[in-house]
Parts: sequence; structure tokens; C-alpha cells
Amino acid sequence: MPQLKYFSGFGNEFATEAHPGALPVGQNSPQKAPLGLYTEQLSGSPFTAPRLLNRRTWTYRIRPSVMHKPYERIANAMVRSTPFNEVETTPSQLRWDPLPLPTTPTDFIDGLTTLAGNGDLTMHSGVAIHIYAATKSMTDRFFYSADGELLFVPQLGRLTLHTELGILDINPGEIALVPRGIKFRVELLDPQARGYLLENYGAHFRLPELGAIGANGLANSRDFHTPHAAYDDRDNGTFQVVAKFQGNLWATDFDHSPLDVVAWHGNYAPCKYDLARFNCINSVNFDHPDPSIYTVLTSPSEIPGTANVDFAIFPPRWLVAEHTFRPPWFHRNFMNEFMGLVKGEYDAKAEGFVPGGASLHNCMSGHGPDAETFDRASKAELKPVKLEGTLAFMFETRFVCRPTKFAMDTAARQHEYYTCWQTLKKNFKP
Ligand code: FE2
Repeated sequence: MPQLKYFSGFGNEFATEAHPGALPVGQNSPQKAPLGLYTEQLSGSPFTAPRLLNRRTWTYRIRPSVMHKPYERIANAMVRSTPFNEVETTPSQLRWDPLPLPTTPTDFIDGLTTLAGNGDLTMHSGVAIHIYAATKSMTDRFFYSADGELLFVPQLGRLTLHTELGILDINPGEIALVPRGIKFRVELLDPQARGYLLENYGAHFRLPELGAIGANGLANSRDFHTPHAAYDDRDNGTFQVVAKFQGNLWATDFDHSPLDVVAWHGNYAPCKYDLARFNCINSVNFDHPDPSIYTVLTSPSEIPGTANVDFAIFPPRWLVAEHTFRPPWFHRNFMNEFMGLVKGEYDAKAEGFVPGGASLHNCMSGHGPDAETFDRASKAELKPVKLEGTLAFMFETRFVCRPTKFAMDTAARQHEYYTCWQTLKKNFKP
């Protein structure tokens, strides 16, 4: 594959053509679009959304998206959705080993498993948290979610996302955002792939406000990359499109590849970001700030400061705080914390939280460092320490994350997780 080309910037207005002259100049909808293409607008927000929030892209494509047979229901397999009421949600802390990789050829769609979710997709609020585990590329098969935008957090294996608006490659350590409705297929560049997939039913992810930090810092806009236009002109077979719509999977056949956009312009497009570029801000005297300082992207709700979901990371960084307990403190939160690990170790846990695994600490449930970490950190010499080779992340949500029945019953669930805190000693000496 030729070197992929990207534009720089988050949510910018881009213009791109894979064929010279394919993009109309000076208007969106000429009587005849250039090169015999069809004009189609893709709106990611209401037409009347204010400029700051308005997302739409004009596409110039070989055939309009409407040319397909009626959709028919297919099995949801392991995909779950609103209202996430298969089982009663426990206040107990939950943790999982990585889900096993498939032993038979399985593509991205067939390898999707939902672990938890919340809110109500029909009300444009909440999230679903899926794990993908695949051993086969999608070639004549495509996927889109009308229910939410998709945030890929790969943990194992490199992927190429062939989307309607261009091609992105992502490695573990990078993320990709595919907006609601955009069709894509997932190609594996390694024999196996596994990762976390957040489906955000709520407001589009955006960069968080920086407040007193100022004009720069955390994830910088220029480090987000959006692909140039690329098209697939195959029309010599059957191309299955699987739609996730109102929580269910539906499929139909196209007689051509749906990735046939030759040119586009707009600000509703997929992007990727290398988490190694995150400008990590932390304490240089004592204590440490709330984990919100690690927010990469946020999906706000209608209540100020109350995110539908924040995506935060805990990347390699220096710990220098003086007279301070350096790992995360014990806490109980309003917000709900689903965590995953891309690589290395997380500084609040001595063992048990491993790459590809996950933990869930819901509203007001106590959690924090395990007994071994507490003991070590309480006595540690407080010289500067570099946390190396680690990348944990959190989906922090406004609503309680409700595990699926699968998540509660799977052999990957660590039923003994609670024991990591049971040996904390009574140290009180009045
Ligand atoms: Fe926490």
C-alpha cells in the first residue's frame, strides 16, 4: 500500500480529491458534478447546530448511498445495547482478564463483544463499551453504526481502517475516531487484533477546554490526522454492509463497494491520534491533580462539567511529587470508571490488571491502590521516578456502566478481584 496521507488538525474543514478535478469549486451541488460523480451530503449534526458544533461533509461519489437492497435483521451475536438490563448491576468492583482471541477465522464484526454500557442510544446519551477480537480482515464486508461514533483503542495488532472518506492505519498506542454513520472495513496487518471500542451515543467527542492551562497542552489539535480521500471502485461482486441501528445488527447487499467517495470536503470525518503525543501535565511540588488532567477527548452532556464520557490516558511520565502518596488515592466517585490497559503496568495495581484486560468501578464504589501498592508507595523513597512502557486509559462516564450478562458470566471475570484490598492493615495509632 502506498504511504497514507493525512491532514493535520481536529475537526477542521478539509477538502480532498483522490482524482484531480473531482471536487467542485465554489459550490456544493453543481447541476452536473465533476467526472460524472454523484453529490451526497452527510450530516453529523442537525443542520441548525451552531457553527462550533456543526458537522457535515459533502461527498462526490461513484454511486449514491441509497443504491442497495432492503436491510434485513441478522443476529446480534455478542453485541448488546440499550437498555443494558440483562442483569442487575452490582456495586462491587469488577475486573476482567483479556478476552481470548478467536480460534477460527473471525472478522471485526463477528468478533465484537459488548462488556458494558449505559444511557439510552435513542436519547443520544450514554455509551456502549465493546471489545473487538479478530483474526481475519474484512474484504467485501463493511460496517457502520448509526447509534454512535466509534473510538478505537487498539491493544494488539495493527489495523487499517478503510473508510468512506479515506484510509487510516492505527497501531496499539494510537486511537481512531470514526463518526456515526461512516462506513468502513477493518483490515488486519497482523495475524491477530484485539482492542477496546467505545460507542459514544452522546455529543461528538471534542478536545477538552484548557482553562488555566492556556492555549496549549494535553492533546494538541495539530496531532490529530484525517485521511485524504481514497476510493474503491470494485463493482464485480457482492458487498455486504452491516448496520448497527437502534441497537440491532442489520445487513444488506450492495453490488459495488460503498467506499466509493472520490472527493469530499467538510468537517465530519474520521481521524487518528498517537497517544505518545499527549502533553501530560502533572504536579511538580506535591499531591496530584484529579485524573481529568489526563483527558484526551470529551463528550459533554447538557450539564456543565458532566461528561457523557471522557477518554483519559495514563501514559509514561515522571513522578516527582514531594511528601506525597504518588499512586491514585483511595476514592469514591460520582462518575463511573471503566479502565483498560494497552501495555505495561498501571501504577495503582501490583498485579491482575493486564494488557487487554479491564476494570469497572461504578458510582460511589470504593477503590484505589491494592494493598501491595499502598504498602510500597507509603514507604517509597520520593526521588524522581519515570513510569516507562505503560499506557492505561479510562472511559469515565456520567451514568453507571451496566455490565452485560456475558461480562458477569465470562471465565475472564476475576471473581477474586476484591481480595486485593482485603489485606490493607489497620495502622491507626491514637
Ligand atoms: Fe478511580
